[in-house]
Amino acid sequence: MKIGIPKEIKINENRVALVPSGAEALAAAGHEVLVESGAGLGSGFGDEQYASAGARITTDAGTIWAEAELIVKVKEPVEEEWKHIRPGQTLFTFFHFAASQKLTQAHLDSGATCIAYETVQLPSGELPLLTPMSEVAGRMAVQEGAKYLENLYGGRGVLLGGVPGVPPAHVVVLGGGVVGSNAAMMAAGMGASVVILDLSLERLRHLGDIMPANVQLVYSSRQTMLEQIRCADLVVGCVLVTGAVAPKLIRRDDLKTMPKGAVIVDVAVDQGGCAETTRPTTHENPIYVVDGILHYAVANMPGGVPRTSTLALTNATLPYVLQLANKGWKQALRDNAALLKGLNISGGKIAHRGVADAFGLYYHQPEEFLK
Ligand SMILES: NC(=O)c1ccc[n+]([C@@H]2O[C@H](COP(=O)([O-])OP(=O)(O)OC[C@H]3O[C@@H](n4cnc5c(N)ncnc54)[C@H](O)[C@@H]3O)[C@@H](O)[C@H]2O)c1
Repeated sequence: MKIGIPKEIKINENRVALVPSGAEALAAAGHEVLVESGAGLGSGFGDEQYASAGARITTDAGTIWAEAELIVKVKEPVEEEWKHIRPGQTLFTFFHFAASQKLTQAHLDSGATCIAYETVQLPSGELPLLTPMSEVAGRMAVQEGAKYLENLYGGRGVLLGGVPGVPPAHVVVLGGGVVGSNAAMMAAGMGASVVILDLSLERLRHLGDIMPANVQLVYSSRQTMLEQIRCADLVVGCVLVTGAVAPKLIRRDDLKTMPKGAVIVDVAVDQGGCAETTRPTTHENPIYVVDGILHYAVANMPGGVPRTSTLALTNATLPYVLQLANKGWKQALRDNAALLKGLNISGGKIAHRGVADAFGLYYHQPEEFLK
């Protein structure tokens, strides 16, 4: 099969959908891989690395879109790419269709088959292609929090791990899911005193089995949250209620109870944030201050570390790319129920209930498309 890797052209997107070792694996399986020149540069992979892995490099994105039967990307195609998409072509990427009717309509009109990373789902409920990005964001949250706690940025000048004779920082993690557990692990590793608050007892029990001794687990309530943030140096916000905006756990007035110069890294900003005072920021301008509390609320945190994010994402996507390439999309989806959940659109019809419901459009069972 011919597989195309166009360069991402969405603003500030430096990840790439395939690394040279992935190109090598596809070539070894007998496929032809076309990579747009410069596609890997933002993640530190040069054209020559792809070429020596067996890929064909082209400077023309149009050639890739015209020739490839399977297009693998990171972000949804942007408007200037829509004209290239054609019936019979398969696209495998993050789409987030429910967020945009225009995007959805363009892909319905294209006639192509769209398999979305974000809805590929294992029988356990886990989202294997979203998880790596949550892992990156969780770990990065602590790195960013530690940085902004430094005096230079207006932070309260506290070293996360303390030193002998001086206590470590107090880190409060709101929500102990994928982001939260990764943040807690990182903060604990740096020697901080960490508390995770979560509403799920089952989750707290699981964390109790795996977290180090300097991580305490507390059932989340308004009262326990207030107790914890009163002495917090760093708060990491990572609650998620599936399909809903994040609950505003930290109210504006609560900021007055926190130590001046404390930092809130609100990773849940992409769902509205779990502090009332959160508003989205960018990597160029990541922080702002409200009532003496620094807020970091970058909505695409993994974009700040594209090399790690690319490797983490492609480690997870490559096995699925190989299945799609080796078997063709229909057989790959018949054989893999997780991948079948990724089917969002095919031949002008919607195969995902969430996308159909978002726009009041007709939904077709994914199995109908496999006949
Ligand atoms: N900013 C970014 O770049 C970025 C990157 C990745 C993920 N995210 C976001 O981070 C958030 C967390 O993602 P995740 O993968 O960890 O989700 P997750 O589902 O794995 O975890 C969410 C946790 O929040 C807990 N929770 C729900 N309500 C709570 C409450 N009131 N108090 C305490 N805990 C509560 C749940 O029990 C669950 O354990 C999501 O909004 C996700 O979109 C942002």
